[in-house]
This record gives sequence, structure tokens and C-alpha cells, in this order.
Amino acid sequence: MRHQRTRTCGELRIENATEKVVLNGWIQAIRDHGGLMFIDLRDRYGFTQVVVDPARLPQVNELGPEWVIAIAGEVRARPADARNAERSTGEIEVVADDIEILNGTKVPPFEITDDCRTREELRLEHRYLDMRRRPVLANMELRSRLNHTIRSSMMEQGFMEVETPILMKTSPEGARDFLVPSRVHPGQAYGLPQSPQLFKQTLMVAGIDRYFQICRCFRDEDLRADRQLEFTQLDVEMSFVRQEDVFLVMERVMARVWKDIAGVSVAAPFPKLSWEESMARFGSDKPETRCSLECFDFSARAAQSTFRVFAQAVAKPQGTVRGLVIPGGASLARKPIDDAEVVAKTYGAGGLAWVKLTPEGPQGTLARFLQPEDLTALAEAGAKTGDLVVFTAGRFEAALTALGQVRLHFARHLNLIDTSQTHFLWITDFPMFEWNEEEQRFEAKHHMFTAPTSELPEPGADISHIKASLYDLVVNGNEIGSGSIRIHRPEVQAKVFAHVGLTAEQAADKFGWFLRVLEYGAPPHGGIALGVDRIAMLLANAASLRDVIAFPKISNGTCLMTQSPSAPDEKQWRELNLRPN
Ligand code: AMO
Repeated sequence: MRHQRTRTCGELRIENATEKVVLNGWIQAIRDHGGLMFIDLRDRYGFTQVVVDPARLPQVNELGPEWVIAIAGEVRARPADARNAERSTGEIEVVADDIEILNGTKVPPFEITDDCRTREELRLEHRYLDMRRRPVLANMELRSRLNHTIRSSMMEQGFMEVETPILMKTSPEGARDFLVPSRVHPGQAYGLPQSPQLFKQTLMVAGIDRYFQICRCFRDEDLRADRQLEFTQLDVEMSFVRQEDVFLVMERVMARVWKDIAGVSVAAPFPKLSWEESMARFGSDKPETRCSLECFDFSARAAQSTFRVFAQAVAKPQGTVRGLVIPGGASLARKPIDDAEVVAKTYGAGGLAWVKLTPEGPQGTLARFLQPEDLTALAEAGAKTGDLVVFTAGRFEAALTALGQVRLHFARHLNLIDTSQTHFLWITDFPMFEWNEEEQRFEAKHHMFTAPTSELPEPGADISHIKASLYDLVVNGNEIGSGSIRIHRPEVQAKVFAHVGLTAEQAADKFGWFLRVLEYGAPPHGGIALGVDRIAMLLANAASLRDVIAFPKISNGTCLMTQSPSAPDEKQWRELNLRPN
């Protein structure tokens, strides 16, 4: 190229008038203004208006949007009435002395404008064009700054960044592993890490007492707006710590990130809420606390109720009836209430009982069953005339999870979330195990390396009440991180394996290497991992992780740009001793 840039398209100001400059970039738009041509030249840094006289530079007539060109010319102040206050370079323009065509282009499949409404599939197929758009570029920049801020904060706090393997021993952690068949060892495969969990714990045994990594994790699970097959974690582990020490480190990182990137000051320490309290009050272990609605316990009254569903529910072990007052909800139409029932059912409730407290008396599915004492109980829960009260019945977690979703439904419908706030929150004291109804066994709520807060009974005994040193970090109703204090004694680890139904042989086969690691002076340790994509999504105010990932996969797991996954050829299959079926 003859003309290499001396300036970017975002930096020229009125003070640069009369300077000779060279700009390189893409043509955003080209306009013919009766004799003069105006080009909006774009690069990563902004736009600059270029004025071209076609009589002097006739090659301008060949150009079109998205051509790549070099402009050599002189900066001049724009006439006062032609200034554009919305652009940082809006006070100047560059008068072209020469144009060099660096490359032409095919006609792009969509117009590259900030507010382009093209469907997402087409944009992702041509992500390199999509990324020329400011909103996408801004998200990429945000993510880059986020990584940088995280890294600085961790380094300042004395952490060491260590890279752990991507090709590793397969050890499902909860989701399905991605497998990479070995060519050299026929019939064997590596697994891709669902997280570096066991490596980071091993680093503690190695004496690297403050570790972090911004690492890629892989999980073969169904995609949702907040889940990708490969995603990025800020992975952290520390030795000789209690959970408060982990909290302190993460609060510093998060406060710094929110300040530097969103310009929001967040108060630390973050409030803590036990899992049980969070479930009871908000019906969720990632409560949206920017909405003040809280659930209440109606079980005592339900036990006396002539409404059979209520009476039967509380007669069962762990059975409960929970209610939620929707202020002013008595004036709601049937539709949002019916929609709420659909939500409740989707989240496992048998139905949604409700009553409107109207000046004419109670109305709704529950109205005819209510005794005067029930109305007193509702009043004690804060319900007034004009309100709607909704109820779910079932086991503690099930009834409240459904009601929690109904809470969010009404909160959104009635605009009850104060989005000007930022609420960070630690959820603590989770149950260690949860019952898997399908497989009729207990499984670890987080993962099998989490330490119990009390001594474990012998395998076979009831463990539903055992709590763990397990915590989640929640912001504005989103789980952005999860961690725990770990087991550091091999005998406790072996007992947990037994409780979740792993035989000694299975445990030795899958995790034998790690049990051996624990035998060599493992220090007490704990840590956490934060979802970097989720944090970026929240900071960018984006609706999906795809918006903050350079080359994301869509919900069926494919990359539309590269067309992966794809079929390996015959030779590749053969080398791996595999065959397509
Ligand atoms: P966990 O599985 O809870 O814990 O993951 C930690 C955080 O990672 C993010 N995350 C995801 N983000 C995008 N797509 C996904 N599929 C996805 N899955 C998880 C979430 C989540 O809070 N090894 C443990 C951490 C530890 O105990 O230290 C772990 O990976 O924000």
C-alpha cells in the first residue's frame, strides 16, 4: 500500500485543521452532493467525513459501501452549519488529495448500520461484518476491558495466574463432557474441562496458595440465553482460608469492575442471605432483590383449610403452602393471572390458587374456602383491599421455586423492579446434597469436592439436612458465580463419593489420582468461579451471552460462520480408529 495511516478515523479534532493526514478504513456511506462526494470513513475508532472532488479523483466513482480505502488529504474545519455534534470528529472533515483503493468488496448481505434489524442468524453467519457495527464492537471492547480489569485486580491482590490443561482426564462434573478421541491410544479419549476444579485444588496442594485463571470451560449441555457450550470463567482458589476470605477478594474484584466499566459504585461487603431464607422470602436461590415483594408462609392456615389441595399438601412430609401479595393486583385482568398460573406449572407447581381482595369481598379460585381467620392471616402478611394474593403448594423447594417465578412474572408485568439499583448478594449455607428423583439417589448440589459444615453420617443414612460451605454470588437476580470451601481430607472425600452412590472402584477409576493428591498434605482451601460471559452480558445490558462473545454458537450448538461441527473425513476417522454411524 502506498498510503499507510497516520491517524485513525476517530481522533481528528478542530485543533488538527490544516494538518496533512492519511486515514485507512471502510466506507460506511458515500453521498453525491452535486459535484462533491462525501465519504464517511470508518475504522475501529470512529468515523471521519472525507470530501472528494470527482473531477480531480475520478476513481471515487468506482467506490461503494464497505470498500477498503486509504485517503491522503488535509484536515479542515467544517462550516458551522455542517458540524455534527454526535460524532467526536464532527467539527472537521478531510479534503482528499489522493485515494488508494486497498480492496473492493462483495455486496454485504445486510446493511452495516448500528440499528440494523437483520435477523441474528444472518449477522452471525457474517460475524466479521456484524462486528463492524458499533454496538457489537462496543461489547467486544467492554469484554476486553473486563478481562484486563479482572486480571489487574487479581494480580494486585497477590494471585498467580496458572494455565491448566484443556486435554484432560474425562471426569463429568454435572454436565456431559466433550470428548477428544486419542489417535495414539486407540479406544481412549481426553475430556475437555467443564472447569479446572481438580487442577486448581491440586495447585493448592502444590503450595500455589492464591491461584486464578481466566479460562475456557466446556460443557455439553442444552444451550439457553445464559449458557454456551464453551464459556469463560474467572477461576479462583485460595489456601488456608474461610469463606469470608474468598468473599473479600471477589468483592474487591467486582467493585472494581462495576466502577471501572459501568461507572457504578457498589457497597461492600455484599449482604449475605442463607439459601433457606432466600428461598423462603424470594422463592429463588438467585433472588431479584431489587423488587421488594416477598413470599409468606400460609401453611398453618392451610392445615385447617377446606380447600383440599392446601390441606393435603401440608399433610405431606415437608409440605407447605406459600403465598405472595401482589399490591394493587385485584384490578389485574384475567390474562396476567392465567399467565402466572402457566409459569407456576412450568416450574413444577400443580397450579396457582389466587384470591382478589375487592371492596365487595374476596374473589377468585380460593374465595369460597376462606375463613375469617384466613383473611386475618392474609392481612398479617400485608394484604389489603385492592391486592391479589397467589399461592402455591408442595414441598418447600418446589412450592417456593414456582412461586418465585410467579413473583418475577408479576414484578416484570407491573414494573416493580428498580433497575436503577445494583444489588450484589452472597447466598450461603446451601444444602450439600439434593435428591435426584429419577435416579433415586442423592447428588452433590454443587460438586463432590465441597466440604460439609458438619460431620457426615455413614453412607446410607439420611443426608438431606447436611449443609455445605457453599456459596453463590448473585447480582440483580443472576447467578454470576459459585464456589465452596473444599474437602481437604481424603477420608471425607471418599465418604462423599460413597454418599452420592459411587462405588470405591468407580471413585478410584475416576478420581483415584486426585484422592492420591489429597494424601500428600493438602492444605485447607476454597475458591470460586465467576462466569465472565454472564458478567459481560450484564455490564453490556445484553439479552444473551451471544451478544458478548466474538464468535458464539446458536442454540443448537452450531457456529454459523464456520459451519461447525462438521463431518471429519474418512482418513481422520480411520486415524482415530472410529467410524461414523
Ligand atoms: P459452576 O458450575 O457453578 O461452578 O460455574 C461457575 C459459574 O460459571 C458460569 N457458567 C456458565 N456460563 C455460561 N455458560 C455455561 N454453560 C455456564 N455454566 C456455568 C456461571 C456460574 O456461576 N468449578 C466450580 C466453581 C468452584 O467451585 O470454584 C464451577 O465451575 O456464572
